[in-house]
Amino acid sequence: MQKLTLPDNSKLSKKRFLFGVATSSYQIEGGVHSRLPCIWDTFCKKENTIIDKTNGDIACEHIQRWEQDLDLIASLCVDAYRFSIAWPRVMNKDGSINETGIGFYEALIEGLTERGIKSFVTLYHWDLPQHIEDSGGWLNRNTVFRFAEYANAVASRLGNSVESYATFNEPFCSAFLGYEIGVHAPGKKGVKNGRTAAHHILLAHGYGMKAIRTHTQKAKVGIVVNVTPCYPRSNSNEDEIATTRANEYINHWYIKPLFDGCYPDVFNLLDESERPPIEDGDFAVICQPMDFIGINYYTRLTYSAPLEGDTLYHEHEANPPKTDIGWEVYPQALTDILLELNNAYDLPPVYITENGAAMADKLINNKVDDADRISYFQGHLMAVHNAIESGVDIRGYFAWSLMDNFEWAEGLSKRFGIIYVDYNTQVRTLKNSAIAYRTFISNRAE
Ligand code: FCB
Repeated sequence: MQKLTLPDNSKLSKKRFLFGVATSSYQIEGGVHSRLPCIWDTFCKKENTIIDKTNGDIACEHIQRWEQDLDLIASLCVDAYRFSIAWPRVMNKDGSINETGIGFYEALIEGLTERGIKSFVTLYHWDLPQHIEDSGGWLNRNTVFRFAEYANAVASRLGNSVESYATFNEPFCSAFLGYEIGVHAPGKKGVKNGRTAAHHILLAHGYGMKAIRTHTQKAKVGIVVNVTPCYPRSNSNEDEIATTRANEYINHWYIKPLFDGCYPDVFNLLDESERPPIEDGDFAVICQPMDFIGINYYTRLTYSAPLEGDTLYHEHEANPPKTDIGWEVYPQALTDILLELNNAYDLPPVYITENGAAMADKLINNKVDDADRISYFQGHLMAVHNAIESGVDIRGYFAWSLMDNFEWAEGLSKRFGIIYVDYNTQVRTLKNSAIAYRTFISNRAE
């Protein structure tokens, strides 16, 4: 079986570098009847939203099987588990705490602690309560304050029992995919909507940070952003300009406000009618000092000058080699973007909070020979190693995902897990990548 190998002197080969696995609430929990409805419940019921017409009602039945899942996590010898809390599970409509819901996460965290595993909690991994969406969701400035209430409630209960809190997972996805092009819940469209949602999410991050800090001294607080590094199709001036715009629009839009308290230059290219509503003082709230930043990386994209119908840039189809979800495998871009961010901003310690690949896995004789996924990890761990060698302060790496799960608009059709899930029986089987990951992690030096 293929192995994961890194240079002996690599920071990643030492026990001080943290390794983990990641999941999110809607993607694994199921247990739809023990929480309030969320925007993904509604979205999945609409026509032409989810490729295989599945939904997260049952998913991996993690709500019932969590103790067994914790044993599986422990069996991987990881240092940490990153998961998200479902807002509609822990908060009642009137803003009070749902005791059963918060109790679930308290028990989960206790179970992790007993097994010597650190908890990396995300407060918002896309499952907005539907009743809040019914009042406008992220287009309504009031949602910012509902989020701060929720963050306050959770931190008041979990306090320092977790290693870290991330306010949001991937604001780009919620704002752009969910409110600008409508391929994710709640399926709204329009540039103004996307920019408005993004602004409110960033503002909610700021107020959320403040709320969490009132209950924590030890726990680290920050955010998780996704990056899709942008490369020009040619070295023509036009293609390079378009690529810079794309990079600002899809990446820096969600990062620059956090550190510099303003939007990137591409903001000025938007028509006044497409700009988000910004109030005095918003940026001061958004750019709270953070203890860490989480970076999620899967792939890169290439760009050229806008064609007819494009406004800022033309985005190209992914190049081969591609994973099962159609994303190009290009580890160098992870090193490149980490260096770019490190040069552009005064970054706090960095965690790679998601990285992984969907592959066409086959369970044969109780084994999954996912050599392609092992190669993907190998390439990307080396990319992280190279970024550290070039001076980026990276402290940990989380494989996406612990197990196969509900992959949003792709439903159950795409498998990102290092553990295989048979959705008929809910039996979990370690893929070869999980075994390679475990072997690498347990062989690290002191
Ligand atoms: C990220 C999401 C995560 C998962 C991976 C494949 O954008 O954060 O939930 O779907 O992509």
